[in-house]
Amino acid sequence: MSAPILVGALLALPGGTAAQELRSYSVVGDAIPEPLTNARGDAARGRALVVERSSTCILCHSGPFPEQKFQGDLAPDLAGSGSRSSEGQLRLRLVDASRLNAATIMPSYYRVDGLDRVGTLWRGKPILSAEQIEDIVAYLMTLRE
Ligand code: HEC
Repeated sequence: MSAPILVGALLALPGGTAAQELRSYSVVGDAIPEPLTNARGDAARGRALVVERSSTCILCHSGPFPEQKFQGDLAPDLAGSGSRSSEGQLRLRLVDASRLNAATIMPSYYRVDGLDRVGTLWRGKPILSAEQIEDIVAYLMTLRE
């Protein structure tokens, strides 16, 4: 259906410390069926990322996070994500939610093109790494209803 998206830019991180390669991915329908990394995501690390304020998920979403008193109400509760969506659908949602809903307020966590207004620190690099995307996908898949 849709053509594969190939993103292969070499990204120089601030300070010139390391370069991170943006992995290529293929969008099939409303999903990215193949993982972005060879190693499987780690659900425990994924949960920690989602609950951590800096990932910004819980500014908008609520979920089964009793340790976080303040959670967002701008977006669906994350409980049951793994029942409502397939792994591939969750992956595309995180990588680039704007492909599913052009008007969404949810950030595109693994897309670097077209982000003209992002701060200099973030320009040219994704908000989350491929490993972090896979960790969060693994965690969301454990949220069944
Ligand atoms: C600025 C607000 C915002 C942030 C930050 C955000 N989201 Fe979302 N998210 C949304 C909205 C709104 C939707 C509803 C669908 C849409 O608008 O595209 C959504 C949809 C989703 C869905 C699908 C829910 C369903 O059942 O339909 C998942 C899963 C999800 N987000 C996970 C996350 C994760 C994980 C993070 C953090 C890495 C995150 N979101 C960060 C606003 C946000």
